[in-house]
Amino acid sequence: MIERISPAKRIEGTIRLGGDKSISHRYAMLAAIAQGTTRIHDYSSGADCASTLGVLQALGIAVEHSGGEVSIAGRGLDGLRAPAGTLDAGNSGSTIRMMSGLLAAQPFSSRIAGDESLSRRPMGRVLLPLETMGASIFARDGKYPPLEIHPAKLHAIDYALPVASAQVKTCVLFAGLFADGVTTVREPLRTRDHTELALRAFGAEIEVHGAVASVSGRPQLNALELTVPGDLSSAAFFLVAALLVPGSRLRIERIGLNPTRSALLDFLLAMGADVRVENLEFQAGEGVGDLEVRHSAVRGGVIDKSLTAALIDEIPVLAVLGATSDEGLVVRDAAELRVKETDRIETVAQNLRALGVEIEVAPDGFRVPGRQRFRAAQIDSFGDHRIAMAFAVAALAADGESVINDAGAASVSFPEFYRTLARLRR
Ligand code: S3P
Repeated sequence: MIERISPAKRIEGTIRLGGDKSISHRYAMLAAIAQGTTRIHDYSSGADCASTLGVLQALGIAVEHSGGEVSIAGRGLDGLRAPAGTLDAGNSGSTIRMMSGLLAAQPFSSRIAGDESLSRRPMGRVLLPLETMGASIFARDGKYPPLEIHPAKLHAIDYALPVASAQVKTCVLFAGLFADGVTTVREPLRTRDHTELALRAFGAEIEVHGAVASVSGRPQLNALELTVPGDLSSAAFFLVAALLVPGSRLRIERIGLNPTRSALLDFLLAMGADVRVENLEFQAGEGVGDLEVRHSAVRGGVIDKSLTAALIDEIPVLAVLGATSDEGLVVRDAAELRVKETDRIETVAQNLRALGVEIEVAPDGFRVPGRQRFRAAQIDSFGDHRIAMAFAVAALAADGESVINDAGAASVSFPEFYRTLARLRR
């Protein structure tokens, strides 16, 4: 699928976005191993979260899914059933990494695989802690999907994560639910804490002290009625669009504002962006509020150290904003970008250059000088949802019509993206 994007006069209106992808995965997985039927409102409409539901169904869990409404008939901690075939995680790193924590503890064998992009993504980071817990897992070449997982009895561990990854933390905490004793995960930097909040809401015993989380094994989890806040990482594309295009004014309602996710807002504010939060409240421990943003000239900035993990999904669209900022954007300590759905250092660089923008690439990041202009271009998503959407936003500020090749990749997290953009652009 190709999208043609012409320059926008301004971005204007009020929107609500689909439910957060990270939270949707966690609610669905925990609902499957809780007792009773969990109802989830505003479940993410993205293909990744549909992959999670498909995997749960293949494990014998009854799932009803209609629009954003999902109902999951949980069968308790010991209720998953052996699947008939290979479990399909599609493009979703979250599905394969988090599910492997549940699968490693089952009394049956399973095999979980994904698409071409997922098949190149590193799994050693989940294999190592799971094997330390006693799991029996075979990966292609010892580190890539598919994963073949054999029955094992897991024991609790105290594990220091070598890479700051919320997916890996989640995998280990999920496995810990099936182990006797207390499983502890120590992160080098605090990553998103949706798992800890969700575990607490479902009734697990979980303790968190800074970047250390401990969960007790064999809890009784109970079904809930939950509403997923709007996805801040999806909102990021519209926030940047409104900041880029002069005269823009946009309101985004009911967005997830968990403090371990909302570094984006602090970063934009520090750049001088006119972004306001209103009506902040908490649901199942998750912050939710409305965002108001107006076009603003922004200074630029540096993303390094702890900020890198907090902004990792937003870096492609921040690179676009950085090119038009006063001082540009520097990204360091972000080698993780190279093992996302694509090598996002390379795919950002290729597309910025196609737009006529200068960028210097480093092994762990890049530097985009400021005060640059976008020339209309042929963009390639390289099959990566966030690359497709980040550069559709850049195209709004180009000097003519741009074309996004393989634009349909956006549906991995945000199928309504182009329709929503069309509604807001003037
Ligand atoms: C996610 C964690 C991050 C992020 C991904 C979603 C999560 O990945 O990039 O989009 O929901 O836990 P890593 O755990 O690989 O850093």
